[in-house]
Amino acid sequence: ADFLHIGKKLVKWYDRNARPLPWRENRHPYNIWISEIVLQQTQVKQGLGHYLRFIERFPDVQALHSAHEDEVLLYWKGLGYYSRAINLHRAAHQIAEEFSGNFPDNYKDILQLKGIGKYTAAAIASICFEEKTPAVDGNFYRVLSRIFADNFDISDSKAFQYFSDLAILMMPEDQPGEFNQAVMDIGSEICKPKNPLCGECPVNDDCIAFRTGSISQFPVKTKK
Ligand code: ADE
Repeated sequence: ADFLHIGKKLVKWYDRNARPLPWRENRHPYNIWISEIVLQQTQVKQGLGHYLRFIERFPDVQALHSAHEDEVLLYWKGLGYYSRAINLHRAAHQIAEEFSGNFPDNYKDILQLKGIGKYTAAAIASICFEEKTPAVDGNFYRVLSRIFADNFDISDSKAFQYFSDLAILMMPEDQPGEFNQAVMDIGSEICKPKNPLCGECPVNDDCIAFRTGSISQFPVKTKK
């Protein structure tokens, strides 16, 4: 399979069809960070208003760092999973103390921040700093396993590494953030778990599962 060719198609689709979301208006790592934390356990539709109010009240690391924790929690009200807000506040202190107030500019350092795991670090590093770090989650497994009709078991502990390696082969050198966000958008709007809209998919003619009528068999997952 021509991995890079398919990756470029995904990016080209994203350039024309990206959902117009406020955190896509610039690439400030602070804004991308807040958006990714909001979206960890919250749907885009539910998270939008909170994201905008949070950014307005705490527009940068300094503002978040100087705020009282109670006020940070107040702006998180309604989103749930309050540890996310507490970690945001703690990470702002970490940035102030360990990174001289500058948001870390690479995957390894971003991963050191409280509340940031591999997915979020990869999303920020790719979107803001053009690092080829795939943002691998359940949507990502589904989209890639279908395109290649790949039987790799996603309940296997090696699945993360396997699909990361596969994605790196697909990622255009200069647009890794667009690639990740293309997979996010296609995963949530088109390549859905049930009743996927394959007719709207930009890579349906490359998609082995679609071509062989076996979409429902992917991803392979043996354990809960
Ligand atoms: N879900 C998680 N991160 C996202 C992003 N950057 N855009 C849209 N949905 C997302």
